[in-house]
Amino acid sequence: MTTTTTEPARAKPDQTAPLLQLRGVNKSFGAVQVLHDVDLDVRQGRVTALVGDNGAGKSTLIKGIAGIHAFDSGEYTFEGQSVHVTNPKQANALGIEVVYQDLALCDNLDIVQNLYLGREALASGLLDEITMEENAAETLAGLSVRTVKSVRQKVASLSGGQRQTVAIARAVLWNSKLVILDEPTAALGVAQTEQVLRLVRRLADRGLAVILISHNMNDVLAVADDIAVLYLGRMTAQVQTKDVTHNQVVTLITGGALVQKDGHVDVEEAHEDPIDEDAPPPHGTGAQS
Ligand SMILES: Nc1ncnc2c1ncn2[C@@H]1O[C@H](COP(=O)(O)OP(=O)(O)OP(=O)(O)O)[C@@H](O)[C@H]1O
Ligand SMILES: [Mg+2]
Repeated sequence: MTTTTTEPARAKPDQTAPLLQLRGVNKSFGAVQVLHDVDLDVRQGRVTALVGDNGAGKSTLIKGIAGIHAFDSGEYTFEGQSVHVTNPKQANALGIEVVYQDLALCDNLDIVQNLYLGREALASGLLDEITMEENAAETLAGLSVRTVKSVRQKVASLSGGQRQTVAIARAVLWNSKLVILDEPTAALGVAQTEQVLRLVRRLADRGLAVILISHNMNDVLAVADDIAVLYLGRMTAQVQTKDVTHNQVVTLITGGALVQKDGHVDVEEAHEDPIDEDAPPPHGTGAQS
């Protein structure tokens, strides 16, 4: 017997269960509580931007997810299972990889050596250079990275965007399911930013969940499907990018709006400056960082 299933035409990936779900997580450093009852849903195939002002708690939240500073309390669920992540190895074992802002690449090593640093492939007790080299080339090709000439090129000779690419490739080399990027475009020029954002998008399109920390609203709006907003250690909104404007996100970041927690957006537009017809045109067009 054959049955025909009709896929709903608008099956949205965001309707699936989250890959990562945090509920009511808290984190204090000594007497200072940095994260208050934070909820977060991160889904496969989607880029979730994590935004918030300096000191809002973004890095602390990421470090909790990555097991660097375990949360004090709250629920941490990954692939539907309640987990306790108290060190980075546990996070890696789940398929969570973080690309930190400083990248931590070794300049004097080549791309292959950087990709495999600390997790080298061995064959009969020796470094399996051939396998590592092949996998490195395959990973870069799989990410459609074409600007790197050779995987044996020293990292010192790479541009900022290429270095970021290598760091991201290192994160996806390990069957990762969730890749977290902390300000990947902060130090990059326009063309390199575009290159890295395209790569970020490709990761999600390949089915990975991506958390992108960024202060740059143009990047966020260009690449994120969802936006999670931290304000003074509280998750004040988690919205879909398509439901908000640039101004609304800025308003959320600066804490100037009332937000409902049911996923529905209820933000007031930030007040635009009244247009002064006689004023000269503005110099810039958008956010910069
Ligand atoms: N190890 C620590 N010990 C004590 N306080 C800390 C520690 N790490 C972070 N904090 C404090 O927690 C708060 C949140 O810091 P966090 O680095 O998470 O902010 P952030 O949102 O990442 O900011 P930025 O955008 O500037 O990177 C800050 O007030 C910071 O001083
Ligand atoms: Mg930070």
